[in-house]
Amino acid sequence: MAPHGHETVVILDFGSQYTQLIARRLREMSVYCEILPFSARPDDIRRPSLAGLILSGGPESVYEPGAPRCDDAVFEMGVPVLGICYGMQLMAHDLGSRVSPAGHREYGYATLHFNGAGQLFEGIGSPLRVWASHGDSIESPPPGFRVTAHTESAPVAAFEQKERALFGVQFHPEVAHTEQGAAILKNFAFGVCRLKGDWSMRSFSEEAVKRIRETVGPESVVCALSGGVDSAVAALLVHRAVGDRLTCVFVDNGLLRKDEAAQVMDRFAERLHLKVIHVDASARFLRRLKNVADPEKKRKIIGREFIAVFDEEAEKITGARFLAQGTLYPDVIESVSLRGASDVIKSHHNVGGLPRRLRFKLIEPLRELFKDEVRRLGVELGLDESFVYRQPFPGPGLAVRILGGVTENRLRMLREADDILQSEIKKGGLYRKLWQSFAVLLPVKSVGVMGDARTYDHVIAIRAVESVDGMTADWAKLPYEILERVSSRIIGEVRGVNRVVYDISSKPPSTIEWE
Ligand code: XMP
Repeated sequence: MAPHGHETVVILDFGSQYTQLIARRLREMSVYCEILPFSARPDDIRRPSLAGLILSGGPESVYEPGAPRCDDAVFEMGVPVLGICYGMQLMAHDLGSRVSPAGHREYGYATLHFNGAGQLFEGIGSPLRVWASHGDSIESPPPGFRVTAHTESAPVAAFEQKERALFGVQFHPEVAHTEQGAAILKNFAFGVCRLKGDWSMRSFSEEAVKRIRETVGPESVVCALSGGVDSAVAALLVHRAVGDRLTCVFVDNGLLRKDEAAQVMDRFAERLHLKVIHVDASARFLRRLKNVADPEKKRKIIGREFIAVFDEEAEKITGARFLAQGTLYPDVIESVSLRGASDVIKSHHNVGGLPRRLRFKLIEPLRELFKDEVRRLGVELGLDESFVYRQPFPGPGLAVRILGGVTENRLRMLREADDILQSEIKKGGLYRKLWQSFAVLLPVKSVGVMGDARTYDHVIAIRAVESVDGMTADWAKLPYEILERVSSRIIGEVRGVNRVVYDISSKPPSTIEWE
């Protein structure tokens, strides 16, 4: 639970795809919040800092047997409660109204009209275009509640019980499609719950440093630097707390992008003065990957090898009792979710993800943060923006972008092609607009002609996608001029490549990475 005293809003998760968005919106308003499963026990919800509760949406119907419920004590904790969509229906159902299948289902936009003044709508004009997605409707509000808004097909689209500070909305204020959605959440947070908005990256950083110092005491810490943002920020925070008692291990698996290993050493060891052990394990990884074409096998080999190398290095660091990891909040929520685990599509090997059989105690200073918060914290701790806002890069590195076996020569072609792509994307001012842009080396050869000679060489595919969270993605409509320059430069400059194609698949049904 929140180890600090910040006013906290607890969000109970009933399985909506938007639950994390509610949390993000609140965090953007400097409000600290946590997501707990709907079945959380009252004792886990209650805490001195509790200032408000939000019940999320969810895919079920409250009148169905087995529908997710929260403990009734939730409505009696003496803090305001906001029910969103399913959360509102549950509140209505538990407090005495009838909820039934709606005559008109509402999916997508609806027009919301206010019925007189409502505390959630203070300072906001009616009507509003709002985003709704529900098949059930509340026939009348529970006793003592007042209806504060309706839509054409939902007569009870918002209600409130002012004395008990209970509120419900039948639409999703947390999604960007809802007009004034943030203002409605703000009214709940600041108007109703009377929060101060005391959550900032500076306060987080100061408290985290203090906490790490207390936890670590006089001991030492190890941290695996992957070259990515999360492990870097975790390491910097720990470094601020314990200085030279932190040793970072940077395992160069030989699957990094052009010049990346040198940049990691330059940035962290030279400029930020972290103690970094650079382990060049590329030969070892390549040996293990020899002739392996199956994507899952590659991922498993890389995961296992990484642990083996890290283990060997960590053994040599005498006296270290703690291991710092850059686990983020979405990983934590995923692991506590009570919904069935979604299918494993690819086994994601996060370089930070080490097994607990290691002899270390874990410190995960970022486990309360979302990615955008980690980035802001990184800047606060002295990282340059060009590093902090880098596009995501998978743990297994270029191995999953070389289809078929991984060899030195293929790595060279891919590195050079990727470097050209990145430099053109950056020149075109598109780097930060794209979720990811990268090159993929295909396992086929094609015929071409260079000068007067026939060639039979490799094919590079360009992948560029727009996305907000990597869960879904659209292929980017890159300008033809950029594609043209990228293609002619790759074919002209990268020995062994004579053809470039552009990947125009979106996710789903494709994935972002090719393996
Ligand atoms: P897919 O390919 O599943 O990727 O659409 C979604 C996002 O996850 C990244 N990705 C990984 N990240 N370790 C990581 O840390 C991995 O093994 C891994 N595989 C994919 C991918 O780059 C994209 O941003």
